[in-house]
Amino acid sequence: MGVTISHVCGGDGACGTCRVEVIDNWDAVTPPTPDETYKELERPHRLSCQAKLIRDVIVKVAKVE
Ligand code: FES
Repeated sequence: MGVTISHVCGGDGACGTCRVEVIDNWDAVTPPTPDETYKELERPHRLSCQAKLIRDVIVKVAKVE
């Protein structure tokens, strides 16, 4: 989509700046990783550097670069 999401830690799952809110199709992303559960991120939030898409989803981006 051409949207660059903020990613301070470069995708290591450490900073949380890439957090998105999954608005529709929650089941179309892979299960939360240990980095996400450690940060106590709960549905509908995910770290976009950790979640892999299985099908199309609709997300709300918290911070765009
Ligand atoms: S880029 Fe830092 S947690 Fe995703």
